[in-house]
Amino acid sequence: MKEKQQMDKIVVLDFGSQYSHLICRRIRETNVYCELLPYNTPAKVIKEMDPKGIIFSGGPASVYAKGAPKPDRQIFGMDWPILGICYGHQVLVDNFGGKVKRAASREYGRAGLKIDDNSDLFKDIGVNTINCWMSHGDKADRVPEGFEVIAHTENSETAAIGNRGKKMYGIQFHPEVVHTERGVQILKNFAQQISGAKPEWDMQSFVETAIEDVRRQVGKDRVLAAVSGGIDSTTVAALLNRAIGKQLSCVFINHGLLRQDEEKDVVQLFKKHLGINLIYVNAEKRFLSRLKGVTDPEKKRKIIGDQFAKEFVAVAKKHGPFKWLAQGTLYPDVIESGVSKGPAAVIKTHHNVGGLPKWLKLKIIEPLRYLYKDEVRKVAKLLSVPDELLKRHPFPGPGLAVRIIGAITPEKTRIAKMASRIVEDELKSAGYYDKVWQAYAAVGDDKAVGVLGDERVYGHVVMVRVVESIDAMTADWTRLPYEVIERISNRITNEVEGATWVTYAVSSKPPATIEPQ
Ligand code: XMP
Repeated sequence: MKEKQQMDKIVVLDFGSQYSHLICRRIRETNVYCELLPYNTPAKVIKEMDPKGIIFSGGPASVYAKGAPKPDRQIFGMDWPILGICYGHQVLVDNFGGKVKRAASREYGRAGLKIDDNSDLFKDIGVNTINCWMSHGDKADRVPEGFEVIAHTENSETAAIGNRGKKMYGIQFHPEVVHTERGVQILKNFAQQISGAKPEWDMQSFVETAIEDVRRQVGKDRVLAAVSGGIDSTTVAALLNRAIGKQLSCVFINHGLLRQDEEKDVVQLFKKHLGINLIYVNAEKRFLSRLKGVTDPEKKRKIIGDQFAKEFVAVAKKHGPFKWLAQGTLYPDVIESGVSKGPAAVIKTHHNVGGLPKWLKLKIIEPLRYLYKDEVRKVAKLLSVPDELLKRHPFPGPGLAVRIIGAITPEKTRIAKMASRIVEDELKSAGYYDKVWQAYAAVGDDKAVGVLGDERVYGHVVMVRVVESIDAMTADWTRLPYEVIERISNRITNEVEGATWVTYAVSSKPPATIEPQ
């Protein structure tokens, strides 16, 4: 397979829309490689990448405002097909002498798009009207010369315009969001029909090239990888294992704040299922003694991060020397979306191993740094990572430390573990586990009276939290059927000693967060 650099690709210029990464992901779904760059990337730099076409993303600005973000004008003279989306559409209109002005009313939400022209952009859509997603306050009032209207909505006479000769198209709606019907087909038409990009991006070939890349990069050196049992670090480990086998050492540190049986599951997954040698460090006592009596959540996080680094150094000394440290950094961590931030080389230091001393001299290897999460899932599947793990809810690095409110005690830890297991089990039996983002039981120092037989007992209040989310940036509490909540509550109060009451968290994010701490 070709290197990414030589592959046919589309470049998305980011004008600050919350959907910029989504455009990139959708193009990749059509098997065309796509990268996100800041809106002001010089044409010269883009030329070196040799894209087949360019997409201008949406953005919050008005093109006619002073200092509005504009691309390098040379881009328009390079014969690249261009698709402008929302603000990007207005950039095109403005550049070619059309007029953009404030619309009489802001258009937000679904709109019926009537396709007027059998344009290449709408090829194979199959119908004349589709629902599309609008979110704009400005509109193209006068279409530039050479462009014609190819679709409209009731409020947007210029919802889509095109110049077939120049292969330039502008659309006011967002094809990348799921609310736009056949949106991916529209993006595919732009990438493959109009720009002529070949669909060369697929995960099987990614795995093959990534393995070659790792071998070339690492040579005969040894690599250390911290694994948490989560999908990113497991996939990195599985990939590196294929690439360099015995040169890889994986370390799993048990801080004593894991989910029920998690340490056993992770060891089993690595040793039995993936055939990867795992260094298992039981550091429970060391973590928990440092955390004793600590109530402030940020202090807990700091202590955990610091102890992780110490444990890691000990492993590196004992089992080393290592030249490389593998990390599960993903594309959105590398490329921060947004006009102001640009292509920040902000690399997420895995918070667990952040703060490693420089003298370890570990070079960083990040084999997933070009991938989105859904792509990582596909890679994981190809590398035989079991489904159970792919479906497992995300779990924060500091683990139960952020779900145990106040000081961490053995009793609260036991309650949080057992009650969370019950929440997970009941969601699985009710068919909800795979539909929700995260689900757990948290416990604090609030106590309430319960009756046990003839006795009154003063036990803990357990808070059950079940949320739905796309990316953890926002989240909504799950409207579980009362019967499911009732079963969870009954089981927790019956089976978990020391728990007398169960509450259900009904706050969404924002203003609340997913974790209580
Ligand atoms: P919040 O609570 O901020 O969480 O809504 C958003 C997502 O991030 C996870 N989370 C963490 N992950 N270290 C992590 O690795 C942390 O300190 C941490 N805090 C929150 C949380 O589980 C949710 O998925």
